[in-house]
Amino acid sequence: MSNPTPARLVVLVSGSGTNLQALIDAADDPSYGARVVAVGADRDDIEGLVRAERAGIPTFVKKVGQFTSREHWDRAMAETVAGFEPDLLVLAGFMKLVGGEFQSRFGGRIVNTHPALSPSFPGMHGPAEALAYGVKVTGCTLFVVDEGVDTGPIVAQEPVRVEDADTVESLHERIKVVERAMLVDSVGRMVREGFTIDGRRVRFGT
Ligand code: GAR
Repeated sequence: MSNPTPARLVVLVSGSGTNLQALIDAADDPSYGARVVAVGADRDDIEGLVRAERAGIPTFVKKVGQFTSREHWDRAMAETVAGFEPDLLVLAGFMKLVGGEFQSRFGGRIVNTHPALSPSFPGMHGPAEALAYGVKVTGCTLFVVDEGVDTGPIVAQEPVRVEDADTVESLHERIKVVERAMLVDSVGRMVREGFTIDGRRVRFGT
């Protein structure tokens, strides 16, 4: 049965936005239960914003450098996000940490997707660090954002094998294929079934 009032997703991006595109495409089906109501970014001239505009989704850009401090940026960004009344805020390749203002407004309702199997390889270079370490299996993680760097309670994880011939780019591209499916599946379940966070354990359902 389709949800008559789809959940409102705000998505933040910093790059090519293929994860965003996967959510936009999934939301074409009313039974998905969510729609992307706005897309925000910390930089302009990125494919992620073009994808949103092509889909007729409102966009906004706030660069850290436009503000006198990181706290001001955080507050302005959170204020704009709040104006779109999100049920869930999705960081999809957003290369900034969100701070206290986001936690106080949307805490427990922010998810981030990361191209490594947490708690391994947090930060900006998950695929490169996995390759350099020589792991044979890496993957992706969807987690509920907390104050740390990629440390929040885990919603979903999927493995990806590292091949001998992999480069950072080939490995990341294979991770992203799996990551997009994980993101679409998990966000859909979160909005349709609800979810609970009990310490570090995240479970679907209420
Ligand atoms: C994704 O692999 C995402 O996990 C990663 O950036 C990529 C964005 O791809 N994010 C991080 O590394 C954040 N630590 P996309 O712009 O094509 O969706």
